[in-house]
Formats: sequence, C-alpha cells, structure tokens
Amino acid sequence: MPHIVIDKLKHINYPQKVGDVEFLFQAENLIGVKINNTKFLLSIKEKERGYLVKYDKITRPITSYLKKAYLAFAKLNNANILFENIKGIKEKLKSEYLLTINDNLDNIDIVEVGFGSGRHLIHLAKENPTKTLLGIEIHNPSIEQLLKRIRHEKITNIKVINHDARLILSKIPSNKLSAIYVHFPVPWDKKEHRRVINKDFIKEAIRTLKVDGILHLRTDSENYFNYSLAKFLEFDKIKLKVNKNIPYIVSSKYEDRWRKLNKNIYDIIMINIQNSPEIENNFDFSFKKKLTNLDFKPRVFENFVIHIEKVFKINNEKELIRLTMGNFNRPEHLYILNKDKPEYFKQPAKVKDNYLAHLQLKRLFNG
Ligand SMILES: C[S@@+](CC[C@H](N)C(=O)[O-])C[C@H]1O[C@@H](n2cnc3c(N)ncnc32)[C@H](O)[C@@H]1O
Repeated sequence: MPHIVIDKLKHINYPQKVGDVEFLFQAENLIGVKINNTKFLLSIKEKERGYLVKYDKITRPITSYLKKAYLAFAKLNNANILFENIKGIKEKLKSEYLLTINDNLDNIDIVEVGFGSGRHLIHLAKENPTKTLLGIEIHNPSIEQLLKRIRHEKITNIKVINHDARLILSKIPSNKLSAIYVHFPVPWDKKEHRRVINKDFIKEAIRTLKVDGILHLRTDSENYFNYSLAKFLEFDKIKLKVNKNIPYIVSSKYEDRWRKLNKNIYDIIMINIQNSPEIENNFDFSFKKKLTNLDFKPRVFENFVIHIEKVFKINNEKELIRLTMGNFNRPEHLYILNKDKPEYFKQPAKVKDNYLAHLQLKRLFNG
C-alpha cells in the first residue's frame, strides 16, 4: 500500500494550495484533497516515530495523484519524509476502452458478464465488427489482460467496465441489447445472494433486451442451472430454451476444464418477446438542507440499504459523514460533506437504487 511517514504536523488553516494540489479541509484524521477535478481523502495516523500518511480506501485516486498529494502534504507541513514506498509504484493500465459506471452506456449492443480470460468476448467482437460490446468484470487482472489483448489485436469495439454486473444493466437504455452472455458464473453455492442471476438481474435483462434479444446462461453447475431455471420461471411472457451438453462456438478456459472432467454443461437461453418502457435515469443527487438528527442504525429497505457509519467533525458548521448506501447486493461506500447545502464528496454511481437510497436519506434526516 503506497504511503509515507513524515516527522511532524503543523497547525494548518484549511483550505491551502501547494502547486496544483488543493487541501480542502481536515475532518479529524482525514484530509480532503482535490487535484484537477478529482477529490479524495488522505488519512493521518500518529506512530511511535512520526505520522503515517496513507490514502483512504473509499476515495482512492490514481497513483500519480496520490504521490503528488503525499509530497505536497509533506511540504505543507514543512516536514521531512522519514519513509516512503511510492517511487516504484506504477499507474494501473489506462485505456480509452475502460469505462466507469458514470460513463454513458447508451450505445452498447452486446454485454458479457464475467468475461474472465475474454476468449468469448473477443470472438464476439470479431464476429460483430459494427456492434459495440461491453465486458463487465470484477476481477482486475482479467480486465488488465483483456485491455492488453484488445490493444495488441487492434480491436476497437469492446468497452470494459470494472464493476459488479448486477448494477450495470440498470444504466443501459430499454430495448437496446441484442444479447447478454453469462458464461460459467461463480456458483456461490453457500452465498446465493452473491449470484449474478437473480430476480432483479432477469428483470433488467428483459428491460434492456430488444425483442428477440437473448440472455444466455451457460454453466457446469447443476445446482446453479436448477436455481436459475426456477428464477426465470417466476417471469411471465418470456421464451426459454434449455440445452444439455451441446457444444458452443467458443470453449472458454472453464469449459475446457469441465469437459476434461466429463462434467455436464447446461444452457438456458431466455428470449425476450416484449418491448419495455424507457427508464428515468436523470437522477439528481443534490441536497437542500443540512442533514440532522443522524443515527448509526443500519436500515434495510426493499432493494437498498442506508447505514451511517461515522461522523468526522470539521468545525462547528461542517462535518464529513461516512456511510454505506444503495443497492442491497452491492452498496456503495461514500462520504457526504454535511453543511448548509450538503454534497457527496465523490458522486455515487447514478443508478436507481442509489437514487432511492438518496431520497430516503433526505427523508430520514431532513435533508
Ligand atoms: C468462473 S469465471 C468464468 C469466466 C468466463 N466467463 C469463462 O467462461 O471462462 C466467472 C467470472 O465472473 C466474474 N464475476 C463474478 N461475479 C461477478 C459480478 N457480480 N460482476 C461481474 N463479474 C463477476 C469473476 O471475476 C470471474 O472472472
């Protein structure tokens, strides 16, 4: 973990600027920092010798900003750096094909969830040169590997996003996709709630698929197959096709492995037959009034949660609230700068469940 240790801290009147690094406020052990338009927090901890300066996990920026902020913070405090491990740390791969959840996903035609080695996604991209494909993965090394491959093979119609797929479909317009592929999802036999296929995901698949668009689940797990079939059957007006041990155009790394072990392989292909209404996605995450009467009770609503975890005092008028809120399966960790007109220190992902949580937060605490 990149960090530095400095020998002293000075009393600072915030805000302050060192070069292009803005130091916005101090909220107990957290320092608000802004470089260009990126806001993040540094955390300070007193050690036996000196002060440890490290990044806050929730708001971690790119490594080059972190290095800049550490050095500027030492300078701001006229401090000597007693230890640092930041010199050799390289930036993660940057790519125009790597999107974030708040980027526009209006032009996507085909989605693959959990693409792993990317073999199938690359095959699809080559077969459909005029379409835009979105690969969604939570595993960083798989993302980096795919970005390297598409750069090497000069493939330009794949976009990649590092996020939980269960949230991403809600960002895609209705009746847009020709296919969604979920091949060999993690079975999560002991943690059903972590499975990609669930009622919400199928609902969003039906909404985002065009008429005749398909959701293709392929799995080696009989348990996952039975579970998924039951979930699909909870819906009306869908067509389902089931296969067992039918070879597929591309054999993924997982498929190769299961084939060698003579395991059964199941497909469920859901064909969408309905047009869905457009969704509202112009969500306003602003507040009108300072949040008051805060409490630390975790609250669970139908599809979302709200949990204020900690409040860090800045001064008599301002504080920083750390909270978890949003989609029940994939809540976000966020900070709110609570003042006359509060604001999220870093914007939440603009998805429906976060928005519902935001509205509820305002209702609960008079915001
Ligand atoms: C068993 S691997 C299969 C990979 C690939 N589809 C194949 O057939 O070789 C499952 C992949 O799904 C990814 N994954 C699991 N849960 C996910 C989620 N909620 N959103 C996106 N990706 C997920 C994992 O990181 C992993 O790469």
